[in-house]
Amino acid sequence: MKCAIWCAPCTPSRYIKYLNPASWILWLDFDTALSEINTTYVFFAAKNCNFLHNFNMKTSLKLNNGSEMPMVGYGMWQSDTPEELESALNTALAVGYRHFDTAWGYRNEDVFGRVLKKWFAEGKVKREELFIVTKLPPTGNHPDRIELYLLDSLKALQLDYVDLYLIHNPATIKTQPDGFTPVRDANGRIVVDTSATLEQSWWKLEEQVTLGRCKAIGLSNFSPEQVIRICKCAKSIKPANHQVELNASYPRKELRKVCAANGVTVTAFAPLGSPGRKIYKGYTATGADSIVPIPPLLTDPVVTRIAGKHGKTPAQVLLRFLGQLDIITLAKSVNADRIKSNFALTGWELDSQDMADLDGLDLKVEGGTWGFDWKNALGGIEDHPEFQLAG
Ligand SMILES: NC(=O)c1ccc[n+]([C@@H]2O[C@H](COP(=O)([O-])OP(=O)(O)OC[C@H]3O[C@@H](n4cnc5c(N)ncnc54)[C@H](OP(=O)(O)O)[C@@H]3O)[C@@H](O)[C@H]2O)c1
Repeated sequence: MKCAIWCAPCTPSRYIKYLNPASWILWLDFDTALSEINTTYVFFAAKNCNFLHNFNMKTSLKLNNGSEMPMVGYGMWQSDTPEELESALNTALAVGYRHFDTAWGYRNEDVFGRVLKKWFAEGKVKREELFIVTKLPPTGNHPDRIELYLLDSLKALQLDYVDLYLIHNPATIKTQPDGFTPVRDANGRIVVDTSATLEQSWWKLEEQVTLGRCKAIGLSNFSPEQVIRICKCAKSIKPANHQVELNASYPRKELRKVCAANGVTVTAFAPLGSPGRKIYKGYTATGADSIVPIPPLLTDPVVTRIAGKHGKTPAQVLLRFLGQLDIITLAKSVNADRIKSNFALTGWELDSQDMADLDGLDLKVEGGTWGFDWKNALGGIEDHPEFQLAG
């Protein structure tokens, strides 16, 4: 109670409710409270007690268009067959997931569209209860092709609009006249397209919001500098969200600061470390394109110890950790039990020691793997000046 005693004399009575032994001060209304509380006392208490942690986990974050984005999403990348994904989506919807993440590039929007159509027809869920995200691939990241791709995604999804449309990668790939087939050089390498700027793509995306095809627009795999550039160039609609590789090994603190300063919410992809990929080709001390193991987050001794302490799974600990930092998470699973447990993140909390221990897993830039995956899957994309190996 020491902190409460220190703060109480300078704290207007309506904020006393935020002072309790379990949570001390919740971040919830902290900014508002700070404007009225004697800040010297609060920061003195914070510094000396190390208590200023957010133990709370919101169910959704408000976006810059006023809509609410659910904190726990279901990721659709890398399921093996349409049948497997269909069954997983039915489980996820039944469990209560309302935020779903797909992409034109995952080639499974049609599977999701069929599942949604059935759920709508049976009256089990309404469109407005869902938050659906899809993404513009590098072949479409050009003002002349954005409309083509968004309409193609909407057709596959059998929807009139998506809640959030993201530029999947800041780089652009040159296409054949059909707008879809990538151009490759004589060695089979992707040819990049630098005939338009990222800013021009963004302005075209703003038009799509006005046309009602997406409620919000955002970014994925952008660097902090690129986020700032897009926020500055926006005519009337700034990015609502930035989806990036982010987990306890790669918490992206600098990038998150930039996003927070610009009112951009953050979504973590690969929140469990994406263990489905056992290895990736990255850079090590031995040089480029070495085979590097994925950081084994789910079996990390710190994570498993905290999981044991709370009687939770390592995945729940990793997801709740990000949730308490106000980071939206997308875990992918096609296993019914894991789909359920990955969603069961409320009714318990990580304490300040847990948060500090998980914070200690930060490998900084070494924790990032995704730029390498793009480069390995689409060899040649790294020649684009906007491509980011690590943000
Ligand atoms: N914007 C981008 O560039 C980008 C890139 C990558 C991913 N994403 C999005 O983010 C989502 C998540 O990323 P991700 O799939 O790479 O990584 P992830 O969610 O960190 O990891 C998924 C892997 O973890 C396993 N898993 C899930 N829950 C588990 C649990 N409770 N215990 C043990 N293992 C568990 C899954 O296997 P099972 O299926 O067998 O459970 C799968 O192999 C994607 O599906 C996609 O929507 C976006």
